[in-house]
Amino acid sequence: MPLPALLQNRLALPVIAAPMFLVSSPELVIAQCRAGIVGAIPALNARSSEIFSGWLDQLGNLPATAAPYAVNLILHPSNTRLEADLAICEQHRAPVIITSMSARADVVERVHAWGGIVLHDVVNARHARKAISQGVDGLVLVAGGAGGHAGSLNPIGFVREVRSFYDGPLALGGAISDGAGILAAQAAGADLAYMGTRFIATEEAQADADYKQMVLDATATDILYTPRFSVAGASFLKASVARCGFDTETGLPVDTSQENKSVVWRDIWSAGQGVGVINDLPPVAELVTRLAAEYRAARERLAG
Ligand SMILES: Cc1cc2nc3c(=O)[nH]c(=O)nc-3n(C[C@H](O)[C@H](O)[C@H](O)COP(=O)(O)O)c2cc1C
Repeated sequence: MPLPALLQNRLALPVIAAPMFLVSSPELVIAQCRAGIVGAIPALNARSSEIFSGWLDQLGNLPATAAPYAVNLILHPSNTRLEADLAICEQHRAPVIITSMSARADVVERVHAWGGIVLHDVVNARHARKAISQGVDGLVLVAGGAGGHAGSLNPIGFVREVRSFYDGPLALGGAISDGAGILAAQAAGADLAYMGTRFIATEEAQADADYKQMVLDATATDILYTPRFSVAGASFLKASVARCGFDTETGLPVDTSQENKSVVWRDIWSAGQGVGVINDLPPVAELVTRLAAEYRAARERLAG
């Protein structure tokens, strides 16, 4: 099955910049789309649906030469804004919707009615099959080592397993932070790379300067994957885990008298294992130019 035209013809590089809670902003997404990669915004990063609508007004003003933008919608009963945010996506004819948590045929039909496409993110083949049965246009495979709510599967095994029953559009996410990683995703059988953590360390990312510095200072072993701080397993910078008073191996409170101690994502910082190759804070345009050069170099190296 070919890639939808808007993911094929309008991209300078086969990359979707992944949606990141608290980190992605309209400024970051606009820079990503202008640089020729899909930029994605979680609807819930806007404090209200009215603010979200204003953001989509801004994204709607991107030039026709820019890559399409994507909106991330959480399809979970706890998301009481889903209906309002979906209606705003409909008004703005958002070109790409990335759904998380659950895939729903009724949502896919609504998005198709305004001409959009739906990609659904999954962490295993069972969820992939379920999403396909709901009519999604493509899948995002979130493998082990990813930032945010990561899976635990090896990326190669995961892509090959899904490719054995699905020939539709696939994006692969998890620790892809440079051009060679983008090519590796394609070599494994994906069409696109799905990159989050690399974009935390950019000028436009809406993250604290200390958070960005922590990403620069970290290597893969500085990431803790744990279900302790969220509804599912997620990856966090151990330095932020320690700073919040938790053990960096178990995620348990260091002060054992505080066994019910909780923490919010604003304080405990998420990143994936791709931190090891991130050493600077470039503007997005410069980063995408570099990724494209690395991608070309990796292709040439393999071609001999
Ligand atoms: C700080 C942070 C916040 C994230 N927030 C979301 C989110 O709100 N919705 C979502 O679908 N995925 C979220 N993710 C996961 C990413 O969309 C993507 O799966 C992941 O970043 C890819 O792996 P990488 O970070 O190793 O590149 C988040 C990731 C990070 C690092």
